[in-house]
Amino acid sequence: MDKIRITGGKPLAGRVEISGAKNAALPAMAASLLTADAIQLENIPYVRDILTTRALLQEIGADAEVRQDGTATIKAAELRSHEAPYELVKTMRASILVLGPLVGRFRKARVSLPGGCAIGARPVNLHLMGLERMGARCDVVHGYIEAYTEGLHGAYILMETVTVTGTENLMMAATLADGETVLDNAACEPEVTNLADLLRSMGAQIEGDGTRTIRIRGVRRLRGCRHRIIPDRIEAGTFAIASAITRGDVEICNCEPRQLTSVLTQLNQTGAEVVIGSKSFRVRGRNPIISKNVTTYPYPAFPTDMQAQYMALMTQGDGSAVITETIFENRFLHAQEMIRMGADITIDGRQAVVRGGRPLTGARVLASDLRASASLILAGLVARGETLIDRVYHLDRGYYRIEEKLALLGADIERVK
Ligand code: EPZ
Repeated sequence: MDKIRITGGKPLAGRVEISGAKNAALPAMAASLLTADAIQLENIPYVRDILTTRALLQEIGADAEVRQDGTATIKAAELRSHEAPYELVKTMRASILVLGPLVGRFRKARVSLPGGCAIGARPVNLHLMGLERMGARCDVVHGYIEAYTEGLHGAYILMETVTVTGTENLMMAATLADGETVLDNAACEPEVTNLADLLRSMGAQIEGDGTRTIRIRGVRRLRGCRHRIIPDRIEAGTFAIASAITRGDVEICNCEPRQLTSVLTQLNQTGAEVVIGSKSFRVRGRNPIISKNVTTYPYPAFPTDMQAQYMALMTQGDGSAVITETIFENRFLHAQEMIRMGADITIDGRQAVVRGGRPLTGARVLASDLRASASLILAGLVARGETLIDRVYHLDRGYYRIEEKLALLGADIERVK
């Protein structure tokens, strides 16, 4: 079990290059199941969830190659099975993303029902509702989703809750359905649009991605293509807060600042100086850090995946900040660990009140999920003394060598085997 050791107090300075977005790469790899041709992907982050998805595709029978240079080639000509086994799905819920493509192209799938995780129950009822509206039968038997169809047809699908992977799964399935499908109350995340770009390069007919209403007109088959994954806006936002919390001066490069408008606006309001470029932005942390409330909502509002990182920043605020988490029911696990570092945080259901003004002290802490791990690193960067973070496998699921990138910016941080 690797650990991350940090000695806090060093302002960060310099330039950091952002990697490809894990949450755009995962659906893109799943989309390769929609054609017998080869898909060439670029800018894939070499993180654990990507390697898990490679294993899943190989298990199904696809040729899947993922290289450390960020390129990947996937060819799902003939499949050995249409099953996503429990052993793989239990390690990565996003395995559910093979469901739509398998039903869309092969008319059947057997996918282990993803369990919940630390941050919430994570139901997939809307994924199944949408497939049923398109003419599939979805049963849950022995912990597996068993889906079957005589052939998908277009449908009007209203998702009562905005769901990112639900939108992605149904958009992929609809590309090969007979007729037009409308996804209403769809997710607008940039990762959805990046997937739509890939599907269009494969020959799909999709419009409205990036808005709440996506229209997909089914085609008979899709073809291979080359596609580039967008930069990871959450990694970029994490480094932005790393600069602000250490009162540093960091240029975050290879990213799309306009995908982070809500985060950069919020950071500006806390007193950080943010200078926007076309493919980069610069964050300079200054005193005081002003306590500002924030509420998480679906894109383009403040993302839930930045909530834990923002809480770390607010522990250094000049007053009290109320953080409201509207997306997941249990996404404050990082708060208890920050309290062990001296933070003053009170949790009441979906709200956390963070009172700043007290320096953090280094401590041994436990990571519970991907973004909580990142928030504990941020707290460690500003805490007095040494912080030791355990269970960093959570971190490795979605951040590529973050400790090396932070060390290059001047942080006193190392991975301990
Ligand atoms: C995606 O998860 C991301 N994962 C998450 O990132 C991210 O936190 C989340 O979207 C919200 O932005 C990937 O893209 C692989 P949802 P997803 O379906 O799609 C409810 C990370 O850190 N819901 O948008 O699983 C659900 O309970 C991860 O990289 C239903 O009720 O999340 C939640 O309250 C963590 N029924 C809300 O919708 C459904 O069928 C949003 O969930 C589906 C979802």
